[in-house]
Amino acid sequence: MTRMMKIEHNVGLSVQERVNPVFNTAKTAVCLMARAGIPEAEEIVEQMGIDSSLLGEMSDPDILLGNAVVEETKYRTMCRLIEDSGYRCNVDLPCGFTPKALHMTENGLSFVGLDLPVVAREAGEVFFSLAIHPEKMSFHGVDATNYQSLERALQDVDGPLCITTEGMLMYFTNDEAYAVASNIRRLLEKHGGCWITPDPEFMLQFMLTFRALFGENLMKKLADSGRNVKQQSGVADLNNSMILKYTNMTATAKAAEAFLEKNGLKVKKLNLAEHMPELSIYRELTEEQIARFKDLMQECNYWFITLDEARKMQEEVSEQPFGMDYAQKGKVLQMALRGRVDTITAPDILAVWETQKAVHAAEEVRIDCSKLDYISSAGLRVLLIMHKNCSRGVLLSGVSRLVKQILEQTGFDSIIRVGK
Ligand SMILES: C[S@@+](CC[C@H](N)C(=O)[O-])C[C@H]1O[C@@H](n2cnc3c(N)ncnc32)[C@H](O)[C@@H]1O
Repeated sequence: MTRMMKIEHNVGLSVQERVNPVFNTAKTAVCLMARAGIPEAEEIVEQMGIDSSLLGEMSDPDILLGNAVVEETKYRTMCRLIEDSGYRCNVDLPCGFTPKALHMTENGLSFVGLDLPVVAREAGEVFFSLAIHPEKMSFHGVDATNYQSLERALQDVDGPLCITTEGMLMYFTNDEAYAVASNIRRLLEKHGGCWITPDPEFMLQFMLTFRALFGENLMKKLADSGRNVKQQSGVADLNNSMILKYTNMTATAKAAEAFLEKNGLKVKKLNLAEHMPELSIYRELTEEQIARFKDLMQECNYWFITLDEARKMQEEVSEQPFGMDYAQKGKVLQMALRGRVDTITAPDILAVWETQKAVHAAEEVRIDCSKLDYISSAGLRVLLIMHKNCSRGVLLSGVSRLVKQILEQTGFDSIIRVGK
């Protein structure tokens, strides 16, 4: 097989964008914050020139209002919890385009924004141009499921961290959520600190907010709103073991805590009603709506997660770095993959595929997976793109037990051929 040149991460944005469409949701989130009346969010939307038609799909004004209430509640409560944690460095994973970078650095904290490379790059440009203290902030492209990318991003950061995760965990498969929890544990072991997230109870917060604002007759509005999130993210399910199900809160909460425990982490639940500040958007609500909203938020928690010192984890098996070899044999593109295929590395494969396809009109792709450690949804998306665009499809060989399990869990084993 031809040795491939060392791959630099310089592939075009459009390729990166296609392997993980979840990044689309970040612009919607900051638009909703602007809609709620958070001044810094309005500034960001203006600076980025985001077209307000982005929210056009939420054509019902009540859906827009409900979503804006949810976003402002999350943003303001998370800012308060970060400041109350006492840690002086906020690592926001994922940072998207929320104004936290401005808020934290103006209040004396340092801020590290981590997100997919395409988002981190754009966020850096925007925030450096708006910041009063740009020296206190940095932005890095990562994949939350890829420990090496996180470790690299934090290599110059000292002291304990307040890691925050808002609006991300629900987009992951179980394996990905597990990888993220395990990566955050490793970061906490190395740096100290805590991890705060509203994500496990996001569905409950959503339902209760809509119920407070619109009473019991809200199911259609919620269904429409949920459809919008799924469309933008390209994720069908919004469900994994870290996400509580509205219909079965007690059992799913236990399962989520056990999921974290297995990763050497323990949870303290912070009652939302007790920690949320006053909101700008109250000016658009009636007194009854505000009272009902404050009352129902008592049923919802944000999760404050720390290392469970009593639980010693096994040494991590170190992963080999990503690598790829390829050779064209007539109409067959042969590839061999090593290490992890995720949002960071999948664009490289897609770029090779698109070049080879254009030059050689490949009809089949055969991939040797014997050294492939892991594949995330971004990698599966690339397999699917290749599969759909050549007449004989993709054939995998040498697949490990873990990768086989991922293919089975996601239903890819019924789409893509797996040989010996
Ligand atoms: C709904 S937005 C939330 C952004 C921000 N935290 C907020 O509250 O507005 C979801 C974010 O998750 C990021 N994301 C998706 N998959 C990711 C991954 N594997 N690693 C890091 N970030 C990811 C997307 O790029 C996007 O910015």
